[in-house]
Amino acid sequence: MKITSAEFVKSAFERSHWTTDRLPEIAFLGRSNVGKSSLINSLLGRRALARTSNTPGRTQSINFFLINGEFYFVDLPGYGYAKVSKSMRSDWGQMAEEYLSHRESLALCIQLVDSRHAPTSLDKQLNEWLVFNDKPHIIAATKADKLSSNKLRKSLSIIEDELPESTVIAYSSVTGKGHDFLWEQIGKALGHFAK
Ligand code: GTP
Ligand code: MG
Repeated sequence: MKITSAEFVKSAFERSHWTTDRLPEIAFLGRSNVGKSSLINSLLGRRALARTSNTPGRTQSINFFLINGEFYFVDLPGYGYAKVSKSMRSDWGQMAEEYLSHRESLALCIQLVDSRHAPTSLDKQLNEWLVFNDKPHIIAATKADKLSSNKLRKSLSIIEDELPESTVIAYSSVTGKGHDFLWEQIGKALGHFAK
């Protein structure tokens, strides 16, 4: 897909702040620091549209990016960051679940897991929720550049075993691995949504 424009539209801290133009949305989900903002930037070929940081838990709002004036990328806050307060943690669950359960324009969820580790219990919970609720989704195993191809293969098979209902692909925001395949999936999801 050719990206002609990509712009940050807004950060939403509650439902009344969500966009209202009903364009299809691709949501990015995963634990804090897994590489959501980096993946968004890498898909769009923009260096710093979505803010990345070495401070996990930085993205606390739902951030909407309008792509080509046609659809949104939605960067959800990362979960599982131990240092945020308990009330913030339950806010995460509420905010994300509210968005995921009620958003009619949700065309595809991209769930990110770290390719170097087995999925965490929160990764599995989220995945089970997506499967149980029939949400179209795909797993991107991030930071694939940090593993040798042999280790990556082993790691992917562990992730596939742990998340057996889902398609898993390796992704690297550094090398662009997985970029074309992920765009294909996004294109298909947007196509289905339009029908
Ligand atoms: P929160 O917004 O805090 O939830 O984090 P996030 O999931 O948006 O992660 P972010 O994109 O900010 O990346 C976290 C750290 O991982 C940064 O230091 C990135 O540079 C690094 N990182 C992200 N993706 C990759 C990747 O594919 N390869 C490598 N080597 N590093 C990556
Ligand atoms: Mg982020």
